Amino acid sequence: MGNVIKKSVAGLVVGTALFGAAKALGFPLVFQIMFFCYAILGAVVFMMLDAPSVKPLYGAKAVVALVVFYVILCAVYIAGASLWPQYDPEDEKGKIEKILAPKRKASEQGKAEELIARAKELEEKAEAIMARLKAVGGETIAEPPGTDSVKPGAAPPAAAGDLVALGKEQWELQECYNCHKLFGQGGKKRGPELDNIGNLMTPEQLKQKILDPQSWMAEGFEKEYEKKKMPDKYKELMEDREIDALVAFLATLKNTSVNTPRPIKKK
Ligand code: HEC
Repeated sequence: MGNVIKKSVAGLVVGTALFGAAKALGFPLVFQIMFFCYAILGAVVFMMLDAPSVKPLYGAKAVVALVVFYVILCAVYIAGASLWPQYDPEDEKGKIEKILAPKRKASEQGKAEELIARAKELEEKAEAIMARLKAVGGETIAEPPGTDSVKPGAAPPAAAGDLVALGKEQWELQECYNCHKLFGQGGKKRGPELDNIGNLMTPEQLKQKILDPQSWMAEGFEKEYEKKKMPDKYKELMEDREIDALVAFLATLKNTSVNTPRPIKKK
């Protein structure tokens, strides 16, 4: 017993020293706590070294005990690792690709737009020549069928549906799901479920919340709001149109059967 107390004290002293040193060196709090825990863990290991030895196992019993020990270790490691799905490298690669793809497409789209503009110019010239021919009194040349149905340059503006789809993608890319449950998926440990947010906040208000999470507070999440749980980083991470897309997506969430908390204006 005296031995246990001695080692506990040593562990606490070393742990506190490490904690202080880590703090002085500017390590984040999690690391300070981790170092402290390592010291305590070390003390426990030393206590166990002095513990009375267990009765030795032999034969089949020993084999079974070893296998059971091995299975438990495997289960703990595998379960621990699979708790962090976002660290799957394939996942990360996919996300990077998703961020890059629109940029690539945008530059390709730029080229396409230039070509369309040029085609339009040519068409206008052709029309001017036709008009002149008509004025001169020549026969009107019959237009080949179907040409006026395909009007270059008149590409339709991106449909609202596209914007919502883009916004859904942003939901995944920015990992809002880590804290917010949506469609029954994602972590709801830290933030409210958002399935009905479209009925509670206007697009303008949603934009405010994303740009400045302190601007609104979900009712009943006072503690999380005070602790600034929702990150204040999206205004740096996201481009304007990405935020608009995300807002468009959130505005479509109108599932009244989910109890999304009422937002309260704070700023
Ligand atoms: C690290 C956790 C975390 C992440 C990531 C996060 N949020 Fe939040 N969010 C919260 C918490 C906690 C609250 C409740 C407290 C508050 O209102 O600040 C909240 C509140 C909200 C609300 C208000 C809900 C209501 O009912 O009033 C909206 C809208 C919202 N978040 C949207 C988002 C969007 C969109 C993203 C991704 C760009 C996101 N959040 C990412 C933690 C998070």
